[in-house]
Amino acid sequence: MTKIAFVTAGGSKTEVPAQDGDSLMQVALEHGIEEITAECGGAMMCSTCHVYIDDAWFAKVGAAPEEELDLLGFASCEVRDNSRLSCQVKVSSELDGMVVHLPESQV
Ligand code: FES
Repeated sequence: MTKIAFVTAGGSKTEVPAQDGDSLMQVALEHGIEEITAECGGAMMCSTCHVYIDDAWFAKVGAAPEEELDLLGFASCEVRDNSRLSCQVKVSSELDGMVVHLPESQV
């Protein structure tokens, strides 16, 4: 099974199993990653699932499309080149071992 590692702003790392086809947001919620609140439940109507994809993995995930960038403009923490909304990133075996950094807050 694919494994994804979430790293808090403070550097604490939690590696969790992830079902292929699920979104990173679903994986985070399922495993109690509290830094992702996902208030809209993945409907692309909030920005509280903001994450930073680790630089080593960003090319595989790809940049946020324009519609997502618009919503990221409402994120509470700094938007960076590697910012994504985790509800829009689908897990696949290609992402096995991926590291995802969490912002300090979502509000
Ligand atoms: S959960 Fe609301 S935009 Fe991702």
